[in-house]
Amino acid sequence: TGTIHFPAMKALLLFPIFLLGIQCDDVPIDRRINCYPDGEPTQEACLQRKCAFSFAEGPEGLPACYMRSDLIGYSAKTNKDGSTTLHKNQGPTSPWGQDIPVLRFQTNDVGNGVVNVRIDTEDKRYDPAPILDLPRETIPSEESLFVEVLGGDVSSFNVRREDNNKLFDTSIGGLIFNDQFIQIAALLPGEGAMYGWGENIHQNLKHDFSRYTTWGMFSNGNAPNSTGLHTANLYGVHPFYLLLEESGKAHGVFFLNSNAQEVTTMPAPALVYRTTGGFLDMYFFPGPTPGQVISQYHAFIGRPFMPSYWALGYQLCRWGYQSLDDLKSRVSAVMDAGIPLDIVYADIDYMDRRKDFTTGENWTGFNDYIDELHDMGMSSILIFDPAVQADYDVFQRAKDSGVSFVEWERHDQVQPEIQSQYPMAKDTKIMLGLVWPDRHVAFPDFLDTTNATDEWWEDEFKRYYKQVKFDGAWIDMNEPQVFQTRNTPLDTEPNNGRYPVVCPKTGPDAKYDSPPYASHNVWYYGEDAFLAKGTLCMNGMTQRGTNRMYNTHSLYGWSESRTTSAVMKKTTGKRSNVISRSTFASSGRYSGHWLGDNSATWDDLQTSISEAVEFNMFGIPYVGSDVCGFLDVSNEELCLRWHQMAAFHSFYRNHNAIGYPAQDPAVWPSVAAATKKANEFRYRYLPYLYHLHYRAAVAGEMVLRPLFFEHPQDDESINRESDQFMWGPAILVAPVYTPGVTKDWVYIPDKNYYSLYDQNYGQLVRSGLDQYDVPWTYNSPTFVRAGNIIPRHQSSALTTTALRKIPFSFLIVPSINGATSGSLFWDDGDSIIEDWKTAGYVLADISYIASSLHTLQLNVIRGSSTINVPSLIELEIFNYQVTPDFTSFTLNGSKLSVNTQASKYSKFTKILTIVFSQGVAVNKEGPVTIQWTNF
Ligand SMILES: *[C@@H]1O[C@H](CO)[C@@H](O)[C@H](O)[C@H]1NC(C)=O
Ligand SMILES: *[C@@H]1O[C@H](CO)[C@@H](O)[C@H](O)[C@H]1NC(C)=O
Ligand SMILES: *[C@@H]1O[C@H](CO)[C@@H](O)[C@H](O)[C@H]1NC(C)=O
Ligand SMILES: *[C@@H]1O[C@H](CO)[C@@H](O)[C@H](O)[C@H]1NC(C)=O
Repeated sequence: TGTIHFPAMKALLLFPIFLLGIQCDDVPIDRRINCYPDGEPTQEACLQRKCAFSFAEGPEGLPACYMRSDLIGYSAKTNKDGSTTLHKNQGPTSPWGQDIPVLRFQTNDVGNGVVNVRIDTEDKRYDPAPILDLPRETIPSEESLFVEVLGGDVSSFNVRREDNNKLFDTSIGGLIFNDQFIQIAALLPGEGAMYGWGENIHQNLKHDFSRYTTWGMFSNGNAPNSTGLHTANLYGVHPFYLLLEESGKAHGVFFLNSNAQEVTTMPAPALVYRTTGGFLDMYFFPGPTPGQVISQYHAFIGRPFMPSYWALGYQLCRWGYQSLDDLKSRVSAVMDAGIPLDIVYADIDYMDRRKDFTTGENWTGFNDYIDELHDMGMSSILIFDPAVQADYDVFQRAKDSGVSFVEWERHDQVQPEIQSQYPMAKDTKIMLGLVWPDRHVAFPDFLDTTNATDEWWEDEFKRYYKQVKFDGAWIDMNEPQVFQTRNTPLDTEPNNGRYPVVCPKTGPDAKYDSPPYASHNVWYYGEDAFLAKGTLCMNGMTQRGTNRMYNTHSLYGWSESRTTSAVMKKTTGKRSNVISRSTFASSGRYSGHWLGDNSATWDDLQTSISEAVEFNMFGIPYVGSDVCGFLDVSNEELCLRWHQMAAFHSFYRNHNAIGYPAQDPAVWPSVAAATKKANEFRYRYLPYLYHLHYRAAVAGEMVLRPLFFEHPQDDESINRESDQFMWGPAILVAPVYTPGVTKDWVYIPDKNYYSLYDQNYGQLVRSGLDQYDVPWTYNSPTFVRAGNIIPRHQSSALTTTALRKIPFSFLIVPSINGATSGSLFWDDGDSIIEDWKTAGYVLADISYIASSLHTLQLNVIRGSSTINVPSLIELEIFNYQVTPDFTSFTLNGSKLSVNTQASKYSKFTKILTIVFSQGVAVNKEGPVTIQWTNF
């Protein structure tokens, strides 16, 4: 519940400077709100905006023209009915529109300590909430948050904990609310240990509050660049952050808004959030641990889908195959090298002239080949672009079934030079643009308020599936990306009729395409940029004429993911595995994500480490980068290190762009060997990874975590959040991301980690910073934490299909002085999970107690007689002190026979390996107890 107090004039006391007037240089240099983000201001231009102007020594990015935020804002009034309204004060007015004089201020108790602050208007404004239909679940928390409103000419509110620690304190001022520009600023607690906001390339997971930095959020198809600071908005939009307070507690904040938006972080620490539409709908998650913040956020937005077991296999892709034979030869090369491989991709090359749902001339026999892959236990994923060419049967069927496309508002806006080329589209208002196909394409509106668009998409998938039995869908270009869009007419005719979309720049129709505040999403790209550059016009109509691209643009990929996920289930009858380039908060319910069109650079390898962790925070754990780099020429060492790192990313795909030399692992013997070894480790540990995905799907836990999630009290762990990560709670990975090294520094947070890689396998390692061997022939430095039991397969296999038949082995790493436990999740790996309550799966808690009688207890909480579950054949125990009696083993009290040939104990390594003569069944509900004694 939120409490509201009104200590009159308190805000004024906080800002006595108010009395000094407008020309003074009185806003501290750590909290200046930029008044001229849209250019280099002259003093005169700045003062015209009623802002202050002064050059000062200060942090990088310090604006010279800044708002008198201490004067700008609204004053709060409590009304007779108990409601609170905000009234525009006497301070300076907005440079970007009419200030809306009266706002509504509401706080809502979402439940379990989650608080919502909503600032909107009497008039109904665009709200993405009905579209997103978030589950808004909450989970118990020991902490509550409160909202306090302070009066005064510049009223403010703050969100605080019970202990009065303010988490979001808007007394900095600067609240502006116009039709197309909304700004709110807040002082933040601690030193600004902030994580999140996206999608951007953050060179470090933790934001840099030593400077002013503005990040854009508006879906965009441009390729990322990790070399130097680039604040570009990328493919998706995630207006969410987690902040670690000085006490070690963490909280989260989600801005539910889908318009073009941005955030500026500044040294105070403080933030300025700006958006170009909708209203302020903010959700505060109390934590108090970082993991709890994320679980609370995922409960609210919706937890991620459960990927198929095969989708965790290794994936091979490239763009630029000339034919099916081309593809086959590279797949064969990788298989011949003995590299575990599960998924074969085809990029747009497989299509006839890059048209969806067609097969190109060099691809006859495609389905026979996919059948062969299936026979070998492998799978295929095909690319689908959202837009369809406006002149073939697919488009005709769409028209016949009343599909909704992104349209112009009126017929007189339609570009006749384009529409006249397409008899099928001639009388429509469909906004036709240019993408990969030779001719113009139409963009289905997956936000259609009827089910016509979804039904047509399903029908097309099913039709194509009759021809080619693909297993997963890769949806690209769905920002949506559109080539050559302009806001000035062409001065010459394109000789092939490829006229670009031209959006209105001036005049009455330009309200959405030339808004008063274009945002960082435009200014980042320089003088000629505009919101619709690289996409469809903002004035385009969506939701059957009831909404605009201006509002829903960044939801395009989200909505295509939602539809495609449902369609894939109906098409294949199996679990859907969709990866999408564009995502929005809550996309993880429907799709995974690859980190886009990266390049073969060491910098892109490095940032992919923290970007993948960030997408886990965003609720999209099925994430990874294009291994070896998509653009640019890759090389042996980079490609080798990239595989070694990415073997720990759930989405694990080597992908290369057209025109670059092959970079599949079979190209270099060293890379083939390293990839084989990395994949064998990964495949062996897939039961552990699969359980992590189960926990993500049911409890909102992250698969990849920063070190500080597991070691919140350790300062150094907080500093190593960008280059090392936890693979679930138990395994620490310190990948190599720099060239030319044979030794590397690794930080180990405490005295409880054992090596799980080639150097001193199974041995306790020193805590703190130390050098480790990292020759090409070793896997990534990997360590396992004491107190954990890791379910894995006894050995690896060439495909996940073969792997699923290999018995389980439990790695037991005894706790020095606490419990030792783990969990096992298993299901058939591919059937649709409608509801976890009725789904068929096996779930077991595993615990180990070492005393005079050693006891391994499996508590099978949920069993299944219909699923093939590997049996338990092996135990491996680290730090085992004395020789066990192999004849003493019992199962449920009866003798359990041990294969003494295969079992072994070394008093030097202190590693015990027990192999049972017969596998122990773990699929029936109830306890399974294995006990033994030592000599
Ligand atoms: C990436 O950014 C760096 C530094 O700004 C620049 O030198 C480089 O050319 C950029 N790379 C690409 C592919 O644009
Ligand atoms: C089909 O294959 C031939 C021969 O390899 C090649 O020249 C041609 O470019 C290919 N066609 C396409 C569309 O890639
Ligand atoms: C789609 O809507 C039509 C008409 O309202 C209805 O008959 C049909 O059952 C709906 N289809 C689905 C799959 O909901
Ligand atoms: C062990 O005994 C329990 C009952 O105590 C039973 O539920 C379980 O199935 C048994 N397991 C095996 C492998 O015999």
